[in-house]
Amino acid sequence: MNKKPAVAQRMMHIQPFYVMDLLARARDLEAQGRSIVHMEIGEPDFITPTPIIEAGHRALSAGHTHYTPALGLPALRQKIADSYRLNYGVVVDPSRVLVTPGASGALQLVMSVLINPGDAVLMADPGYPCNRHFVRLVEGEPISVPVGSETGYQLTADLVDAAWTSQTRAVLVASPSNPTGTLLSAKALREIYQVVRARGGVLVVDEIYQGLIYDGDGCSALSIADDIFVINSFSKYYGMTGWRLGWVVAPPEYVEPMDRLAQNIFLAASTLSQHAALEAFSDEVADILEERRQEYRRRRDYLLPALQSLGFDIPVVPGGAFYLYAGSGRLTPDSFKFAQVLLDEAGVAVTPGRDFGSYRPEQHIRFAYTTCLANLEEGVGRIRCFLGH
Ligand SMILES: Cc1ncc(COP(=O)(O)O)c(C=O)c1O
Repeated sequence: MNKKPAVAQRMMHIQPFYVMDLLARARDLEAQGRSIVHMEIGEPDFITPTPIIEAGHRALSAGHTHYTPALGLPALRQKIADSYRLNYGVVVDPSRVLVTPGASGALQLVMSVLINPGDAVLMADPGYPCNRHFVRLVEGEPISVPVGSETGYQLTADLVDAAWTSQTRAVLVASPSNPTGTLLSAKALREIYQVVRARGGVLVVDEIYQGLIYDGDGCSALSIADDIFVINSFSKYYGMTGWRLGWVVAPPEYVEPMDRLAQNIFLAASTLSQHAALEAFSDEVADILEERRQEYRRRRDYLLPALQSLGFDIPVVPGGAFYLYAGSGRLTPDSFKFAQVLLDEAGVAVTPGRDFGSYRPEQHIRFAYTTCLANLEEGVGRIRCFLGH
């Protein structure tokens, strides 16, 4: 008998990444010998800096193969706390730092300890697609607030205030954002925080792309207040996506329940990765990461005007991350179809807006500059031919 599996109802709300189908198609084409320029991938093309990899080798040789405490290696929590003092002049007590399996693990912990069934969480649309699923998993209501270029594709205090209802419990923002690469200024973040506090809610700030800022200095929400959840990760800036390591700085009163939950659902983040990450804060690694940041900036500075000259609209210069969220409305009424045909006919893979929400997704495409300048130039050339320019 061909029976459907009995999957829990909550799974109805968990959507796949559409770009995965596109990536699979790109890999098929590559297997057939076609050359594909990848501008869809949301992770660094650089491998993890060598000193971190070597620290990982040393940790294995030394037999560091057991569980760590659920909250992470004390030495790593200390180094993470110190990094806030060094980078932003903010003193963070290491007891508030929880090491997690990626920012993904941090988001899961935070939503689990904050959200009761039916509680609403406000977030920007377009935004990182998994956020709404972390809320759904704990039976909360993700509320997508449409944002456009007028607000730099970010929530504002006014938007938060207007969207607030008696159900609202938390607001989740990301600065810089995926997919738009745009930032919240310290002032804008403070204003959002003030509204959230006045309404009795909690602010969660995803700072996973904070190291990758190209215009001006970054800022951490921790410099505003201690009762904000701040999420970060070794994935993007440190080039450690596959090591699955992140962290969250939590308000002190949430540390104990999060520790309890982490013990139950993860036991701990990967021991090997934690030992390797101890090296991530060395001067040698800082130099490597700074060179990479400069390289990303060069790529952005090339790709932004190049795409504009092809007819894409990018009204706000993205100050960070490695994404450009381009308006494609002048070129196509359907960015999803456009991305499929662009891949098949021109051999360029991009991510259609559909993956990032429901606010005008058909008019947007995300370009990731996670490939070298020569490839970006090749990609732009192919798109130019495809468009018949
Ligand atoms: C905004 C944002 N937050 C969180 C994550 C999850 O990152 P990780 O679990 O690899 O740390 C990503 C990954 O793309 C992201 O773009």
